[in-house]
Amino acid sequence: MLSGKRVLLIVCGGIAAYKSLDLVRRLRERGVQVRAVMTQSAQHFVTPLSLATLCGEKVHTELFSLTDETEIGHIELSRSADLVVVAPATANIAAKLVQGIADDLASTLLLATDTKILMAPAMNLRMWLHPATQSNFDLLQDRGVVICGPADGAMACGEYGPGRMSEPLDIVAAIERLLESGTKLPLPGGSVSTAPDSKPLLGKHVIVTSGPTHEPIDPVRYIANRSSGRQGHAIAAQALAAGARVTLISGPVNIAAPDGVELVRVETAQEMHDAAHAALPADVFIATAAVADWRVASTSPGKIKKGASGPPQLALTENPDVLASVAGLKKNRPALVIGFAAETGDLETHGKSKLARKKCDMIVANDVRPETGVMGGDSNSVHLITRSGVESWPRLPKDKVARRLIERIAAMSSGAGR
Ligand code: CTP
Repeated sequence: MLSGKRVLLIVCGGIAAYKSLDLVRRLRERGVQVRAVMTQSAQHFVTPLSLATLCGEKVHTELFSLTDETEIGHIELSRSADLVVVAPATANIAAKLVQGIADDLASTLLLATDTKILMAPAMNLRMWLHPATQSNFDLLQDRGVVICGPADGAMACGEYGPGRMSEPLDIVAAIERLLESGTKLPLPGGSVSTAPDSKPLLGKHVIVTSGPTHEPIDPVRYIANRSSGRQGHAIAAQALAAGARVTLISGPVNIAAPDGVELVRVETAQEMHDAAHAALPADVFIATAAVADWRVASTSPGKIKKGASGPPQLALTENPDVLASVAGLKKNRPALVIGFAAETGDLETHGKSKLARKKCDMIVANDVRPETGVMGGDSNSVHLITRSGVESWPRLPKDKVARRLIERIAAMSSGAGR
């Protein structure tokens, strides 16, 4: 599907620039015409000659090049492409685009383009995790820029963590997904968005479980947990914004359900289980609820009184596992079943074992040790665990986690995700 497409590749200054050469090869193999621009710093890492040889045409480096301006012009250069890809994208180019600085060819093109932009960040992990960089990339994402990566791994500087540029084939897959969904950016001001992927979940039914469950002991007492429902409700809101029909099955919470969802209020794990199965069929099932694992085996019909016999001995019995019961369905199983794993120990090991045990397609693992403030708090630091590996996201507000997650789910459910 890439054959005949035109990509404008902007290579910025970072050691990952060497991978951009391979990216050009992969794109050219697929019949893509690649026109390249290099920043001055990029030329310290790879030469314009290497890039030009692989592209099969001149590489552009200067904003004020009379020859280029008469031949093509920088506005034309930015607009004649189906997609602008920035790989590697440095902290610097992101900061410039956020601020609207246009002091060289690359930044000017990014500001002038009406074409979608895909950025593949690559930098030292501390630079990536710096709040300035995080908020710049978040803001760019809010403005419609698609961010691919960065990946986790060993870095050229000897450190290990997020910051490596995504592999060329992963970038090619992201390009493919993006080109499938249209190429134009909404106009600044936002009212004229015709991007066909602004509703990537249109026509899909998404079920989200959210909040805690309450397991009664007697008519006035219950067993509960600290879940606020914020993460689940934010995910429901983002799924709705992505065009899905959303059934939100919520335990008792103190927050409002997003307008437009079909809200099913439940109290207990058993009720959540029954509501989930009643809401099927669905395309996507997202289990964010902190479901109580146990309930009191026999609840007392009247309030238990303090008595001479001392505190009551509560016998507990196991609740149904809502997520596992949906993921294990032979008939009517949603195409994507996603679980959350609230952990206080080794996230990756527990997350991977939950992925296998509950037969789901992805586990979003988060660290809920009290000192993280995640349970009941406003932000979350999650790790996406799939059969192909683990991807760690930096700490983000819960609505940002929700948005990125829904983007990922939309890509996965279109069959193009990993
Ligand atoms: N879950 C569920 N029904 C349950 C328990 C959990 O649907 N009875 C779902 C949660 O919504 C979440 C995932 O399973 O998506 C993992 O929940 P978690 O409480 O972390 O896992 P547990 O099954 O309780 O496993 P463990 O006791 O090992 O933590």
